[in-house]
Amino acid sequence: MAIHRNPTDSILNAELISDNTGPDGLSDLAREVLEGLTKTPKRLSSRFFYDAEGSRLFAEIMHLPEYYLTRSEYEILETSKQELLRRFSADGRPFELVELGAGDGLKTKLLLGHFWDEKADFTYAPVDISDSALENLTADLRKKWPHMKLEPQHGEYFEAIERLANRSGVERPRLVVLFLGSNIGNFAPDEAVGFFRQINESLQPGDLVLTGFDLQKHPAVIHAAYNDRQGLTKAFNLNLLRRINRELDADFDVSAFDHYETYSPETGEARSYLVSQKVQTVTIRDLNLRVAFQYGEIIHTEISRKFTRSDVEQLAEQSGFQLTGWLTDCKHYFADVIFQK
Ligand code: AVI
Repeated sequence: MAIHRNPTDSILNAELISDNTGPDGLSDLAREVLEGLTKTPKRLSSRFFYDAEGSRLFAEIMHLPEYYLTRSEYEILETSKQELLRRFSADGRPFELVELGAGDGLKTKLLLGHFWDEKADFTYAPVDISDSALENLTADLRKKWPHMKLEPQHGEYFEAIERLANRSGVERPRLVVLFLGSNIGNFAPDEAVGFFRQINESLQPGDLVLTGFDLQKHPAVIHAAYNDRQGLTKAFNLNLLRRINRELDADFDVSAFDHYETYSPETGEARSYLVSQKVQTVTIRDLNLRVAFQYGEIIHTEISRKFTRSDVEQLAEQSGFQLTGWLTDCKHYFADVIFQK
C-alpha cells in the first residue's frame, strides 16, 4: 500500500496515510496503537509492556529499593505460610494451587517449599500463555522438588481455571487460585470486578482465591516507587515505544519522550505517562498511520491503583466472594487477601 506523504506536514492529531485494512486481521498491539493514538488524550495499555525486554525490566524493578510492593508481599507470605496452609487444606481436603501469571515464581516457591516440607497433599498448576515461561518454571521446580505434583496449564487464565474446575470423574481437590503481585491494580475498576466474577463462575463453594492489593499509604512512598532514581521505571515505560517501532515498523524517536508519573491520594491512582518533548510526527508504517504530537503532549500508559480495605471488601462482594482473610506486612503497605466462594 502506497504511503502518501502529507506535503504540508500539517497533521492535527493523527492521520491515516492511506486506506487502512480496518481492525480485522490486526494484532492486538496494532489495534491498541490504532485506537489509542488516534484518541484525545492519547493512550496505550500497559498490557503491552511485557515483551522480553519489558519483562526483564519489570524483574529488575521488583528489586529496586523504592519498589516496596514485592518485598512487602514476600514478607506477608513468609510470615503467613502456616496460616495459609491451614486455610488451603481445611477439612483435610487436598488442594490445587492454580497460579495466574507465575513469572519466575519466587514468591510462590516460598509457599511451595513450606507446603512440601509440611507434606501437604497439593498440586501446583501454573498458568501461562507463554510455553517457554512454563517450561523454564517447571524445569526449575522439578530440579528442586522432583516428586512435587505439577500440572502446568498452557493458555488463557479463564480457560485453564474452567478446565481444572470441571474435571469429570473423581472428586476434585479444592481449587486455590493465586493472583499475586498487585496486578489487579493495573485493571480499570469495572474490569477488576469482571475478572473476579469470571473466576467466581468457574469455582465451587469452598474454593479460594489468594490475591494481592497494594494499599493506600503516604503518597510520597507510592510516588517514589514509580519514580525510581535509577530510571528503571522510565526505561520500562519508554520500552513500549521501542516495541511499537520493532513490531509495527514505526519511527518513534524514544529520546524525544520522557516518563512522567503522578499519584493522586484522592483517587488512589498512580498514573504513568509518556511526554512528547517536542513537536513531532511519528509514522507507524504497518498501520499506514502518522501521528502528530504537540510539545508536552502525553500518552497515558498505565494505572496502578492503590486500595483501601473497603475497596477490597466492595470488590469481593461485587464479584460474589466472601472476604475471609486479610494478611498484611508490618508496615501495612500491602495486603494478600483470601476470597472464598
Ligand atoms: C505489574 N504491576 C503490578 C506493576 C505496578 O506496580 O503497577 C507494573 C509497574 N509499573 C511501573 N512499575 C511497575
